[in-house]
Amino acid sequence: MSRRQVNPSRRFVDSGSIPFAGALHSKSRSSPLLSIGLVLLGAFLLVAYSYSGSGLFGGDKEAFSKVEGDFSCTLEVQRAIPFLKKAYGDSMRKVLHVGPDTCSVVSKLLKEEETEAWGVEPYDIEDADGNCKSLVHKSIVRVADIKFPLPYRPKSFSLVIVSDALDYLSPKYLNKTLPDLARVSSDGLVIFAGLPGQQKAKVAELSKFGRPAKMRSSSWWIRYFVQTSLEENEAAIKKFDQAAAKKSYKPACQVFHLNSYH
Ligand SMILES: *[C@@H]1O[C@H](CO)[C@@H](O)[C@H](O)[C@H]1NC(C)=O
Repeated sequence: MSRRQVNPSRRFVDSGSIPFAGALHSKSRSSPLLSIGLVLLGAFLLVAYSYSGSGLFGGDKEAFSKVEGDFSCTLEVQRAIPFLKKAYGDSMRKVLHVGPDTCSVVSKLLKEEETEAWGVEPYDIEDADGNCKSLVHKSIVRVADIKFPLPYRPKSFSLVIVSDALDYLSPKYLNKTLPDLARVSSDGLVIFAGLPGQQKAKVAELSKFGRPAKMRSSSWWIRYFVQTSLEENEAAIKKFDQAAAKKSYKPACQVFHLNSYH
């Protein structure tokens, strides 16, 4: 695996290429209104959390994240691991996950037998816990702007899974990032994308993501794959759907299975 150093300043510089991002970023530092908003949001979350504790929303963390309106396909990746294993079998031996909160997915994958895992975190991880910091320290998880080529050699991983990251990219960047994700995989690329209508990224988080998420329909994605000559992995789709149906598992995100380049 390549050990090329990622220039950490690049992702900040890059957000300047989207005119809005810079403005939002500086605003988030200075606007008193936003601070008040954050305090109110915090208060709301506390109230919501105490309700969830009393069982009104089911009392579990998942329900809590729905109350918050912050839907996560990264969470869905963790739920889908048993079905991905059924669909990909031996191709789960070297997995790269790309997306926010990648430490949680990588930690979960590392608990699976015969699976090695790495992660790319596209955004800041200033609130990372000790476990995550240690993964970063060991270079198992890297912070890298996915609008630039990933710091890995071709076919470094058997499977690449991406969640919650492509929704934030315009087609211009998708055109670079998707082929690059396919490049570093040998046996396939799995995309977890938000469903149209799903709420993502609260206003407070806009400065982090640069632009609001755009939830595209499945027909948009399929058309896009055809346009960019990425093929769907029919065998994996079939196995994944069969395994999911057997356990009545319905992913709360769109899941696409693509072939790597031959
Ligand atoms: C992305 O790539 C496709 C296929 O090569 C092309 O048709 C499309 O115009 C590109 N989009 C952008 C925004 O560059």
